[in-house]
Amino acid sequence: MRLQGKRAIVTGAAGALGRVIAETLAAEGAHVAGVDLNADGLEITAAGVRAHGVDALSATADLTDFDAVQAAVGGIVEQWGGVDILLNGAGGGAVSWFHEMSYETWSTQIDRNLTSVFNVTRAVLPGMIEQRSGRIINITSVAAIAGGRLVRGATAYAAAKAGVVGLTKALAIEVAEHGITVNALAPGAQATPGRDNDTPERREALLAQIPTRLLGQPEHLAQTVVYLSAPETVNVTGVILPLDGGHSI
Ligand SMILES: NC(=O)c1ccc[n+]([C@@H]2O[C@H](COP(=O)([O-])OP(=O)(O)OC[C@H]3O[C@@H](n4cnc5c(N)ncnc54)[C@H](O)[C@@H]3O)[C@@H](O)[C@H]2O)c1
Repeated sequence: MRLQGKRAIVTGAAGALGRVIAETLAAEGAHVAGVDLNADGLEITAAGVRAHGVDALSATADLTDFDAVQAAVGGIVEQWGGVDILLNGAGGGAVSWFHEMSYETWSTQIDRNLTSVFNVTRAVLPGMIEQRSGRIINITSVAAIAGGRLVRGATAYAAAKAGVVGLTKALAIEVAEHGITVNALAPGAQATPGRDNDTPERREALLAQIPTRLLGQPEHLAQTVVYLSAPETVNVTGVILPLDGGHSI
C-alpha cells in the first residue's frame, strides 16, 4: 500500500498497458481515474480498480482535442480537489512508409502520441504546482531511442515518441522547483494482446533483436510506475527508463 490515498489519472486506461497500470496503482491504495476514447473498456478497468476498495472514475475523451481534455480532466481534478499522479499512457503506432505517407497519417500519429501528452499534462499541471507536489510519468517507446529497428515504417510514431522524450526532460527541469517529477518509460515489445497474432517467424525475428530474448511483461512495467510514484523517488526526475531487454543498447 505504498500509494495509499493518492489520486492518479491514467490515460489509455482501456488499453492493454493502461489497464494493468490502473489496477496496479489501485492495489497500492491509489484512487484511479481512467481517461480513454473507449468507454466500454474504461468500465472494465474501473471495475478492476474498485475491486481493490479504492475510488474509480472514468472519463471518455479524445485526448487530441485540447478543449475536450481540459473539460474531462478538469472535471476529475475538480471532483478530487487535485491529482497526485499522472500516467500518460494513451497512444499507439501505425505502419506507413515515409515516402508514401500522407500528411493525415503523420499528423494523426503526432497528435495521438505527443499532443495528447501536452493536452492532459497542461490540464493537471496548474493544480500540481499549487499543491507543490506531483508525479508525471509518460510512456514513450524504444522507437524513440532505437528508431524503427523493431518495426520498419514507424517514422511518425518514432518522431512523436522522441517528442515525448524531449518534453519529459524539458518539463522535468521546468517544474522541479515545484516539487513535481517528470519521467518516462521507454518500453520495447510487450506481451500484450497486440502481439497475439505474431507468426512464429515474426516472433523469432523480434526476439532475435532483444538481448534478453524476452518480451516485456505489463505487470513489470506497472511496478516501475509505482516506483516512480512512490515517496522514495522524489529526487528522480528527467529519466527515460528503457524497459526493452537491452534492445536499445
Ligand atoms: N504494447 C507495446 O509493446 C508497447 C511498446 C512501446 C510503447 N507502447 C506504448 O504504450 C502505450 C500503451 O500501449 P498499449 O499496448 O496498451 O496499447 P493499446 O492500444 O492497448 O492501448 C492504447 C489506448 O489508448 C487509447 N487511445 C488512443 N488514442 C486515443 C485518443 N486520441 N484519445 C483517447 N484515448 C486514446 C486507446 O483507446 C487505447 O485504449 C502507448 O502509448 C504505446 O505507444 C506500447
